[in-house]
Amino acid sequence: MQKTIIQTVSKGIKTSTLFAMALLCFSQANAQVEKDKNVKAFEFLSNSNSQDVRKAQEFKNGAVVSAHPEATAVGVEILKKGGNAVDATVAVKFALAVVYPNAGNIGGGGFLIYRSAKGELNSMDFREKAPALAQKDMYLDINGDPISEKSKEGHLAAGVPGTVSGMVELHKKYGKLKWAELVEPAYQLATKGFKITKQQANELNRLKSKFQQFNPLGTVFIKGEGEWKQGDLLVQTELANTMRLIRDKGRAGFYEGEVANYIVEEMKRGGGLISKEDLKNYKAAWRAPILGDYKGYKVITMPPTSSGGIALVQLLQSIAPYPISKWGHNSDSTTQVMVEAERRAYADRAKHLGDPDFWKVPQKELLEPAYNKSRMANLNWDKATPSTEIQAGEFAKKESEETTHFSVVDKEGNAVSLTTTINTSYGNYVVVKGAGFLLNNEMDDFSVKPGVANYFGLIGYEANAIAPNKRMLSSMTPTILEKDGKLSMVVGTPGGSTIITSVFQTIVNVIDFGMDMQEAVNAKKFHHQWLPDRVDVEPKALTPEVQQKLEAKGYTFYKRNSIGRVDAILVTKNGTYQTGADPRGDDTAGGW
Ligand code: GLY
Repeated sequence: MQKTIIQTVSKGIKTSTLFAMALLCFSQANAQVEKDKNVKAFEFLSNSNSQDVRKAQEFKNGAVVSAHPEATAVGVEILKKGGNAVDATVAVKFALAVVYPNAGNIGGGGFLIYRSAKGELNSMDFREKAPALAQKDMYLDINGDPISEKSKEGHLAAGVPGTVSGMVELHKKYGKLKWAELVEPAYQLATKGFKITKQQANELNRLKSKFQQFNPLGTVFIKGEGEWKQGDLLVQTELANTMRLIRDKGRAGFYEGEVANYIVEEMKRGGGLISKEDLKNYKAAWRAPILGDYKGYKVITMPPTSSGGIALVQLLQSIAPYPISKWGHNSDSTTQVMVEAERRAYADRAKHLGDPDFWKVPQKELLEPAYNKSRMANLNWDKATPSTEIQAGEFAKKESEETTHFSVVDKEGNAVSLTTTINTSYGNYVVVKGAGFLLNNEMDDFSVKPGVANYFGLIGYEANAIAPNKRMLSSMTPTILEKDGKLSMVVGTPGGSTIITSVFQTIVNVIDFGMDMQEAVNAKKFHHQWLPDRVDVEPKALTPEVQQKLEAKGYTFYKRNSIGRVDAILVTKNGTYQTGADPRGDDTAGGW
C-alpha cells in the first residue's frame, strides 16, 4: 500500500508545521439512462423551492438554464432570432448583472468553457486581478494577524473587474449578432425595472444595514420605506446608464471614461486600491482547457486560475476504479470513496494551485491517472482517514457563497458553460456611486496568510499569496462533456468551495447512476474539502443508516441547508436538449 508522501514546501517550512499552523488558524475561520419525454415549446418552470418536484424539460433548437427567469428569457430570445450560443451567453451575462445583482455582475469576473458544434474547444479566464497597489500582507495587522473583514467587505476587498473584458473578447472571437443587440436587453431591464423574487426580497431586507454601512450616499438596493416584497419593481437608473455606455462603446464604456471615473472616485471615498491604470490594463485571457476522461466521456473543464477543472478531473480519476454504480447513489461505500477522493484533491488544491501567470502549477502531474490512483491507495475502509494524515502530493521540483452559473446550447450545437461571481452574495456591498453596480470582494479568495482559512474555509499557501496584478485562485468549474466526439453535457454551479464537488456529483449522478439532467441536479449532495475535516451534508443526502455507519468509522457530519445550484443541459440520445435547473434557487430553464 502506498502511503501519501508528506514532505516539505517552499522556503524550507515543513509541511507538518504548515499543517499545524493551518489547523490553528482554521479554528478561527468560519467557515443517462435517457427517458422519453415530450419536447416542449419554450416555457418557464415554476419557481417552486420544493426541491423534489421539478421534472426535466427537453427542447429541440436550443436551451438556456440560468439563475433568473428574466435572464433565461433574454437568452432564449437571442437564440430564437438567430444568435448563436455565444451571443446568448453575452446577453444572459449582462441581463444577470441587472436581475441577479447578488452575483450576476459587471463588477466581478468568471470563467467559461466553449465548445463549437464542430468540436473546437476553448476556455476564458476573466477572473478579477489584484490591483497594482495590492501587497502580500495587506490584510494583516501589525502583529501579522488577519483583519478578517477587510478582505471580505468594503472597498479594499475589491479586485479589478473582468466581466466586461471577458464578454467583449468572447463576442469578438465567436459572436454572430451585433454587440449592441446583446447588451440592449440588460439596458431595458435596468431602465424599466424587473419584479424581484421572494428570495431577492428577503436578501435585500437582510442586508439593509450592510448596504447602509458601505453606501453612505445611498443605493437603489435600500428601499426608502418599509421592507422589500416579492413582486416589487427594481428600477436601476444608474446601472442603465452604465449598460448604455457598454452597449455603445464596448470595452471603453466600462474601463475608460465616465464609468472608470465613477469606480476610481468610489475607491477614493472608501479607501480602495483600484486605479484608472488597473482598469485600462485589465484583459481577459484565453487559456487551453483541461481535458480529462471519465468512463468514455471527454471532460472539458477550467484550467487555473481556477482550481475547479484540475480538482474535478482528479476526483473523477480517483473514483473511476471503484464500482460505485453497483454500490448505489449515496450508499455508505460510494460516499466514503467520494469523500476520501475529495479530501485528497483539496489538499493538493491548497498547496499547488494559483494564478499560472505567477506560479508554476504542476498541472501535468496532478492530472496523471496513476498519481490519483496512488493517492487513494491508503484509503482505509474501516476508518476515516484523518486530514492530518493527508498532505498535498509532492512532485519533482518544477516548480453566502454566491456565484452564479449558466449553460447555453444553440440549434447547431455550439455550447457555453459560464460561471461568474462577485464572490459572496452582493460582493463587498459597495455599489459604485453613479454607475450603479456592485463590486466584488474577490480579494478574499487569495490566501491572506499561509494556512488561514478564507470565507469558504479554504486554506492556501505561497501559490495563492497576494501579489500586484495577480489573479486569485477560484473553485469555479464550468464544464462540458463530450461523448463519441459529440456534445453530451454542459454543467456548472455556484457554491464557493462546494462548486467542484457539486459538479463532480452531478456528472456522476448522470454517468454512474442513470439520472436524467433534472434528477441529477435535484439530488442531495455532500461535500468534503480536506479542512475542516468534516463532511457537509444537505438534509436527506444520506439515509440515517448510511450516516451512522460512516460515523462509526470516524466521519463527522455537518448539516448544510443547501449545497450548490447546478444549471445544466444534457444532450439526449434523440438529440434534444434536456435541462436541469436547480430548485434550490430561482433557477429557470428555457428553450425552443
Ligand atoms: N469566489 C469563489 C470562487 O471563485 O471560487
